[in-house]
Amino acid sequence: MAENVQAETTQADYMVFGKTGWIGGKLIELLKEQGKSVHAAESRLENREAVAAELDAVQPKYVLNAAGLTGRPNVDWCESHKHDVLRVNVAGTLLLADLTRERSIPCAMFATGCIYYYDDAHPIGSSGFTEDDEPNFDGSFYSETKAVVEKYLRLYENVLVLRLRMPISDDLHPRSFVTKISKYEKVVNVPNSMTILHDLLPVSIDMIEKGLAGVFNFTNPGAISHNEVLDLYAEIVDPTFTYKNFTVDECNSILACKRSNNTLDTSKLTAIYPDIPEVHDAMRAVFTRMKAAMDAEA
Ligand SMILES: NC(=O)c1ccc[n+]([C@@H]2O[C@H](COP(=O)([O-])OP(=O)(O)OC[C@H]3O[C@@H](n4cnc5c(N)ncnc54)[C@H](OP(=O)(O)O)[C@@H]3O)[C@@H](O)[C@H]2O)c1
Repeated sequence: MAENVQAETTQADYMVFGKTGWIGGKLIELLKEQGKSVHAAESRLENREAVAAELDAVQPKYVLNAAGLTGRPNVDWCESHKHDVLRVNVAGTLLLADLTRERSIPCAMFATGCIYYYDDAHPIGSSGFTEDDEPNFDGSFYSETKAVVEKYLRLYENVLVLRLRMPISDDLHPRSFVTKISKYEKVVNVPNSMTILHDLLPVSIDMIEKGLAGVFNFTNPGAISHNEVLDLYAEIVDPTFTYKNFTVDECNSILACKRSNNTLDTSKLTAIYPDIPEVHDAMRAVFTRMKAAMDAEA
């Protein structure tokens, strides 16, 4: 790929990494809908020469990075593939930060807020963790590496770190949090911050165009529990849907690694974007759009 990249690519305002992924695919679709010129990056993040050549060929005004190893079928995979995770999520991500900084290109990293867990200073019901709080969750290797890389991404003045949590789409995509929890035999019931992609992806594009950089908690304001999400799903989309709960300890006993539960403080984000809807209202809107699309297809 590296040898041919300059011959194959044309210039574009946006270069997006993660074109085959869930969020990367959605970003490319959204940018096209907005009439923006987009190049879907071909290079592997850890291949410095290929990424440099592709950046130089495309000369993007903005880079969006939604590439990374997230684990299949789930994040437990990362526990047994630590060197792959380090190569892509740490080394590759830092290489992209370095290469875009060298070229003065603003670069948005689609990162995670799963680097915290409720504690005495940030209990359930509190305003949550701010962008300045030290990560306190290392229950999974995935989260541990995301916290490490974020620490160093802060040093890059061209980089915008967007901390997503439990992303949700308007459809029942297998990677959407709603789809995942609706298919589990049993679910825990803990309030969490969540990122509704319909509301937040357009904001990410506006943020990079505004020249914003640094770390942002990138969720809808507030926190919503698993049961509240599933009750809304049953109320609006599928009245036949039922579910069962189990405790966090019972849940941990069947997983290779722990899962993060937390609330993120969104005041830094909502000071700039006050219209991002509160998570309960936003979730109701997701299911209303989902039901309308299902009815239209029927
Ligand atoms: N989905 C979630 O629950 C969630 C939550 C919070 C944060 N995030 C973050 O958001 C980002 C995107 O998530 P997602 O759900 O869209 O992930 P995804 O569906 O697993 O997609 C990952 C993308 O990364 C690409 N990729 C993997 N290794 C790569 C490499 N070495 N070089 C270049 N591209 C590579 C994949 O391409 P190939 O198929 O070609 O390998 C794929 O396009 C991730 O960084 C993730 O940590 C996701």
